[in-house]
Amino acid sequence: MSASAIDDAPTQRQLTLNILRYDPRNPASKPHMQKYRIEEADSMTLFIALTEIREHQDSTLQFDFVCRAGICGSCAMMVNGRPQLACRVLTRDLPDEITLAPLPFFELIADLSVFTGKWMRGMSERLQTWLHAQEREIDLCRIEERMDPDLAEQIYELDRCIECGCCIAACGTAQMRHDFVGAVGLARLARFRLDPRDTRTDDDYYDLIGDDTGVFGCMSLLACQDVCPKSLPLQTQIAFLRRKMAAQGL
Ligand code: SF4
Ligand code: SF4
Ligand code: FES
Repeated sequence: MSASAIDDAPTQRQLTLNILRYDPRNPASKPHMQKYRIEEADSMTLFIALTEIREHQDSTLQFDFVCRAGICGSCAMMVNGRPQLACRVLTRDLPDEITLAPLPFFELIADLSVFTGKWMRGMSERLQTWLHAQEREIDLCRIEERMDPDLAEQIYELDRCIECGCCIAACGTAQMRHDFVGAVGLARLARFRLDPRDTRTDDDYYDLIGDDTGVFGCMSLLACQDVCPKSLPLQTQIAFLRRKMAAQGL
């Protein structure tokens, strides 16, 4: 290799990761920032960077990953103050100093790991986010009814939610009141309201979200839609629900 080719070779950046460490189950643990330095690799994601740290520098660092493909929603964390899926964030899109913290609002397990599933389950039970069909007896031999493809597409669009919790972490209302169902809860109900197989009426939906813990608690500042990694049409759905629920409440 010629001297000029060596000169032209891109130099690898040294990354500094400042990570909020805290284990609430350990009485000796106190919240503090811990600094780690690693060499950036080509196409490095935050998942790879954190794995590198855990394997070679600090085996006690806790964080969650399952799919590494933006599908399971388990790796959401605050990346330089913004909720993001760490498996989808390339370090080359970040400055060389990166601050990581767990999502706020959710129960902390330790370090970057939070218990989103527990809250999501509670929200789901409270809002009854399952199909309320007419028939009590399920007939497995019955041919499925046809659905208008455009409507099926709209329902599918909302079903793409991966329950990552980014919309809740970015939501001003959720930070002020823990009983707010958030964009994720409102989008779940909007999905069932669209579904012609669901027998619930707007009166039933009003009972579930017709107050400040539901659609009237939303301040419409759009942070949820800005951070949603699946680009769900959250604002359109929340605005539509709010109009329907306001009409219902008159
Ligand atoms: S609506 Fe978007 S940000 Fe909120 S939980 Fe679902 S995928 Fe995540
Ligand atoms: S628009 Fe509503 S649900 Fe979305 S972040 Fe703002 S207050 Fe929360
Ligand atoms: S690990 Fe599944 S979404 Fe990131």
